[in-house]
Amino acid sequence: MRNPRITSRYYGGLIRMIKIANHCHYHKVLARTLIERIAGFHCHDEFTLKIDDHGITLCTRIEKQQTCFTHSLTDPALLRRAQQKNQALLRACSNKKKTISTVADLTAGWGKDSLMLAFHGQQVLLLEQNPLIFECMHFLIELARYEQPDGCYQQMQILHENSLDYLQNRDPGFADCLYLDPMFPSHKSSAKPGKDLQILQRLTENQDIEELFELARQRAGQRVVVKRPLHADRLCGSKPDIVYAEKTIRFDVYLTRQV
Ligand SMILES: C[S@@+](CC[C@H](N)C(=O)[O-])C[C@H]1O[C@@H](n2cnc3c(N)ncnc32)[C@H](O)[C@@H]1O
Repeated sequence: MRNPRITSRYYGGLIRMIKIANHCHYHKVLARTLIERIAGFHCHDEFTLKIDDHGITLCTRIEKQQTCFTHSLTDPALLRRAQQKNQALLRACSNKKKTISTVADLTAGWGKDSLMLAFHGQQVLLLEQNPLIFECMHFLIELARYEQPDGCYQQMQILHENSLDYLQNRDPGFADCLYLDPMFPSHKSSAKPGKDLQILQRLTENQDIEELFELARQRAGQRVVVKRPLHADRLCGSKPDIVYAEKTIRFDVYLTRQV
C-alpha cells in the first residue's frame, strides 16, 4: 500500500518549496536528510525542488519560462545512453592497454559523464563545488545504490570540494585520469543547451578552470581529458595529444608523464 504523500514547504532563501512524495521508508529518510542539508542555502534565483521515488526535479524561471529538470541516476533512458560502447568520452578516458581504472571528475555537475564511466567499469571520484548540486547528487547516488545494490553506483563517490583545493593536497598519480567538463561559453548563435545545463548555469559557474587544468596536468597519473564544444579554442591554448570528436563536442586528451 502506498504511504500518503508528504509535502514540506520552505520559504525564503534558495529553495522556496520542497515537495516529497516518497513511498519507501529509506527513500523518506534520504529525502529528509537532503531537505535538512539544503534548507539554509541561498542563491539569486528561486528554485523549487521536488523529490519523489525516482529522483529529483528542480525548477526555476528562465527568461520568463518555468524550466524544470528531472534527474535520476537509475533513469532507463540515461542508462541506455550510458550502455553505448565506443562513445568518445569512453575512448578518451581509457586506453588500449586498459591501464586506466580510476577517474577523478573535477567538474561533476549532474554526474552524467561520471555515470557513463562508472557503468563501463571505472572507479569515479566526483568533485563538485556547488553545495546544492553536491547535495542533490549525493542523494541521487545513495538512492541509486539502494535501488540497485549491484549497479555501478558503488563505483561512484562524491565529495563537496573545489577541485583546485583538492588537487593541491593530492600526490601526482592519485588518479589515472582527471576529467574536466567546464561550462561551455554561451553564444547567441548557438542553440539553447538542455534544461539540465540551463539550470546548472543559473546555479553555478566555472571556477579556476585554467589553473585547474594546469594543476591537473601535474597530478594526473596518465592523462587529463577536457570536454570542449567542437570548434572551441583549446583550453589554455595547449595542443592535445589525442582528440576524440563527436557531432558537437570533442574530448581533448593530454597524456602526462607519470605513466
Ligand atoms: C558543465 S558542468 C559538468 C556537467 C557534468 N559533466 C555532467 O555530466 O553532468 C560543470 C560543473 O563543474 C562545477 N565546477 C566548476 N568549477 C569547479 C571547481 N573548481 N571545483 C569543483 N567543481 C567545479 C560546476 O559547479 C558545475 O556543476
